Amino acid sequence: MLTTNEMRFFKRNGYLIKRGVLNPALMERARARLWDGAPPGRRRNDPDTWVGPFRQDEENLDGANHRRGFRWNFREPGGEEWMVRLLATDPKVWAMAEQMLGKGQLVQPKRIRGIYCTLPYGDHPPQALGCHTDGHPFHLGVVGYIDDVPPNGGSFMVWPESHRAFYPTFTSQYLRDQSEAAYEKVRTEFNQHPPVDTYGRAGDIVFWHHRLGHMASPNTSRQLRQAVLYDFLKQDIEQTQQEPPQKDMWRDWSDQMRTIAI
Ligand SMILES: [Fe+2]
Repeated sequence: MLTTNEMRFFKRNGYLIKRGVLNPALMERARARLWDGAPPGRRRNDPDTWVGPFRQDEENLDGANHRRGFRWNFREPGGEEWMVRLLATDPKVWAMAEQMLGKGQLVQPKRIRGIYCTLPYGDHPPQALGCHTDGHPFHLGVVGYIDDVPPNGGSFMVWPESHRAFYPTFTSQYLRDQSEAAYEKVRTEFNQHPPVDTYGRAGDIVFWHHRLGHMASPNTSRQLRQAVLYDFLKQDIEQTQQEPPQKDMWRDWSDQMRTIAI
């Protein structure tokens, strides 16, 4: 379970790293399953073949196995029962999410997003860093590393405290609608701040607030960045997303979470 200090860290910074959480056997299963979606010539046992970008003939714009540039989003296995168990309904992950959002309040997941990879950049220069927020409605994101992610190895990069600045720039608590000018102002401002590289080991997870500025960072390591993603949402989101941002942005979170002073 999470300590008060960890929950305070999350409220303040918009993210929280927990180490060594995921089930090793299920992670290995996911690392193996990924290669069912690989184009010919890219092989698990030959790291030299992992270097990106995907050539034009390897690109796949189909969402179930999206491959483009350095990004490979293998969503196809996201609905398999064991993949859901690997991340969303892992007992520890679930308990922590409930601790933050309220017991018995979460939507029962039918799928997770899938396995999201960033190929090594090789000699390719990394792009400039810049944050964005996701637009689909949810409360709490979780990224799970199913293999080691070294520093500068394509981690889920976050801009601490940006969730508190982005939150009021939207016209809905959870929907994408935003005041474009206000959003861009916050984005420009936070892009001047140093982001945090949430590198880690296989089994580490990163919780993140739904309005946190983030990016899939460049991968200048030799390792294939492999992560699984899920977005927790509460059962009442259909109603609460109709409401504008609240004075207390933690109103919909658990009582324990709400009482913690930032
Ligand atoms: Fe995103």
